[in-house]
Amino acid sequence: MRPQDMSPDEFRKFGYEVVDWIARYLDTTGEYRVVPEMQPGELVDALPKSAPVKGEPMEAILADFDKLIVPALNHWNHPRFHGYFSVSASGAGILGEMLAAAVNVNSMLWKSCPASVELEQVVMSWLRQWLGLPESFFGLIHDTASSSTLHAIGAARAAADPGLRTEGGAPGLVLYASEHAHSSVEKGALSLGMGQQNVRKIGVDAEYRMRPDLLSAAIAADREAGKKPFCVVSTVGTTSVTSIDPVKEIQAIAAREGLWHHVDAAYGGVAAMLPENRWMLEGAGEADSLVVNPHKWLFTPIDLSAFFCRRPEALREAYSLVPEYLASQENPRAVNLMDYRIPLGSRFRALKLWFVMRSFGYEKVCRIIRKHCAWARELAVEIAAHPQFEVVAPAPMSLVCFRMKGPDEPNRELLEQVNRSGVAFLSGNVLDGRFVLRLAIGNLGTTREDVFTTWEKVRTLASQA
Ligand SMILES: Cc1ncc(COP(=O)(O)O)c(C=O)c1O
Repeated sequence: MRPQDMSPDEFRKFGYEVVDWIARYLDTTGEYRVVPEMQPGELVDALPKSAPVKGEPMEAILADFDKLIVPALNHWNHPRFHGYFSVSASGAGILGEMLAAAVNVNSMLWKSCPASVELEQVVMSWLRQWLGLPESFFGLIHDTASSSTLHAIGAARAAADPGLRTEGGAPGLVLYASEHAHSSVEKGALSLGMGQQNVRKIGVDAEYRMRPDLLSAAIAADREAGKKPFCVVSTVGTTSVTSIDPVKEIQAIAAREGLWHHVDAAYGGVAAMLPENRWMLEGAGEADSLVVNPHKWLFTPIDLSAFFCRRPEALREAYSLVPEYLASQENPRAVNLMDYRIPLGSRFRALKLWFVMRSFGYEKVCRIIRKHCAWARELAVEIAAHPQFEVVAPAPMSLVCFRMKGPDEPNRELLEQVNRSGVAFLSGNVLDGRFVLRLAIGNLGTTREDVFTTWEKVRTLASQA
């Protein structure tokens, strides 16, 4: 009995309604406009300025969800949501998320909830095996890749600067990443107080991969100038074009120079799970840390970022601080997650990943990812053959970057028109100084027909320009 909460009968009634809503939504997401037709501030204006003083009936809340919230949604679960990196909340993942909310445990210490702490180790070990990484990698779950990468850079700094914990950071540490690395790398360095002038953006080759020769040269120049190179981040699946940095060569440089090597495989790690794509992570087994986001391409509802680290002692050096009120038993099998990260508490994220990995299994994941990549290749060939368009970068994963030949402005307008149509959603980028359109395939509901419906919409709008 929880006298202050809704009764079990009420929960059942509204719970069934919500589950019905979700089942219907997942079945019909493709019938919605992908993005709403609304102006900024419309939802704020439609909702009361203050929270209610007296509680309201659930019927009213659910009715407003339908009437006000749903029309303001971008449907990331839509089969023609091709912007940024497209994602999926699978049925299995949603069920795991529901149960995690219900049990509402906190995974800060083993003794705060053995189930969530131990399941986190189990799913991270399973995922590590799917990625082909060695057992020496310790895994834990963060909310986002931005957090995972921040933790990696913080651990790298602690490993490089023995006085950090007591005296604060010594100046002069320098971090390296390709000019196409995600902004979260630079943001991580900024958050740690490193300063933008200590982040080197290394040039890329014709296929947008970090050039190891330029990396070596930059490290040498920094050493010459009295700086302290300490960390390099390579990317497997860059955000702009899904290019794949030469991880093995970068790892060799990192080993030679004594740098921490973090691999950002936030998106591309899932593609690298396929047997035919194993080469993408070659050398990553010797790196110091790696991030992959199941909430991007592994059908897990946002948020869930998987962070692997071969030097957990450096994470502890950077992040462990145990006040008496959090002290617990010393048992090597009782992992206390708070010792390896900034947040103390976290929710039971491992549950939804466990549901997803069990219900899909490795073979089905591979089949789906393989199809997404094949459709992207097929689409790239078709776009390249169209006289009005050009494909601007290779498509090694499931992202196609293209543009109408000619100036930027019509391309920007085309993107707006496609998105305004409600049929599909794409995002844009500037690559080599030119505006380009990005079409990512990654949603569980996407079919080949959806991909080509989007392309048809793009072509039709372009022909009317
Ligand atoms: C390569 C790469 N790294 C990191 C991120 C940041 O991901 P998150 O939103 O989980 O912080 C992204 C986001 O798209 C990405 O593409």
